[in-house]
Amino acid sequence: MRIKNLVLKNFRNYSSEQFEFCSGLNVLTGRNAQGKTNCAEAVFYLCTGTSPRARRDRQLIKYGCPEAEISSVCGGRYGDICLSARIRENGRELSVNGNRIVRNADLLGNLYAVFFSPQELRLIQDGPDERRRFLNISLSQLSRPYYTALSRYNRILEQRNNLLKDRDTSLVFETLPVWDEQLCAYAAAVAYRRTDYIRRLAPLAAEAHAFLTDGREELAVAPQKKYAGSEQDIKDRLFEELRESCERDVRLGFTSTGPHRDDVEIKIDGEDAKTYASQGQTRTAALAIKLAEVEIFCQFSGEYPVLILDDVLSELDLSRRKKLVARTEGLQTILTCTHAERVLTGREAKRIRIEGGAIKR
Ligand SMILES: Nc1ncnc2c1ncn2[C@@H]1O[C@H](COP(=O)(O)OP(=O)(O)O)[C@@H](O)[C@H]1O
Ligand SMILES: [Mg+2]
Repeated sequence: MRIKNLVLKNFRNYSSEQFEFCSGLNVLTGRNAQGKTNCAEAVFYLCTGTSPRARRDRQLIKYGCPEAEISSVCGGRYGDICLSARIRENGRELSVNGNRIVRNADLLGNLYAVFFSPQELRLIQDGPDERRRFLNISLSQLSRPYYTALSRYNRILEQRNNLLKDRDTSLVFETLPVWDEQLCAYAAAVAYRRTDYIRRLAPLAAEAHAFLTDGREELAVAPQKKYAGSEQDIKDRLFEELRESCERDVRLGFTSTGPHRDDVEIKIDGEDAKTYASQGQTRTAALAIKLAEVEIFCQFSGEYPVLILDDVLSELDLSRRKKLVARTEGLQTILTCTHAERVLTGREAKRIRIEGGAIKR
């Protein structure tokens, strides 16, 4: 699967521009604040229906314009497909091959992307929400049941949290079991798939990590232990957990257990990486996990994703940089950086220079 071109209209600082991508390495260069990340963001948006950085879609619309448009032709196993998004202040329209789609779920899986920016390099140093975000972005693209369960889980969780804030506690205790039954079903679907994903990711991450450290360190990634067993087992356990924490939840005014609080276990040489590893070590481990993510897309879907490397090379030392570039061989890659020359010697690349929201031709 690959992205052939990308048309941006009034998207961020672009007025109207068309990118043609090659199936290998595409290097977007330019000074700061010219529009490199904006282009990478647009590609990611067509893959996932969300921006990797904007909280609201309206931030994507060029200042002073009524709407933004992103569209692209992608080549897949079954021929070309055309993806497009029209974003307005009060909503958006997504379409696949010119047919309007109503659910974001229908956009997912048409074009896969692994997005890698300095934020992902902090995957291990940062809090558990960053690791959940990683799982959610990956799994939402790969598994529609995951995406659906996660959306419903979040919706019911919000309703449960609203209920927990109600002052009439007898009403709260009476109503909670109704919500909990549904919540647990979706929670179990989410937790079960995350567990499966992490188990599959683990050997790939260990292998990538051995490659990055020349076998000097060992990375072990594992799901939370409480999620052993079948989806039904997980559901029963979560139900029990919710019951046990029910009084605490009422006191706190929010739901204190469940997949929205989960984490991933990450160890380097047997020690918890979040607590003991140096900054260099956690970055290398994060890089290994992202490289494993690329492989896992292939395992799940039979196709490699488009790899988007936004400004990560400058954050890595020369040895890691070379190894990362070596690993991208054969993958369609969109790479942004300020200086292309030093980093990519030896690798054929299409260079696109960006200046002030336009390609410099
Ligand atoms: N909605 C918007 N409308 C117009 N310009 C925008 C919008 N959002 C961001 N920008 C501009 O885009 C530029 C940043 O682009 P970006 O792609 O992040 O830069 P870089 O090339 O450093 O990756 C900034 O100049 C910013 O002001
Ligand atoms: Mg940038």
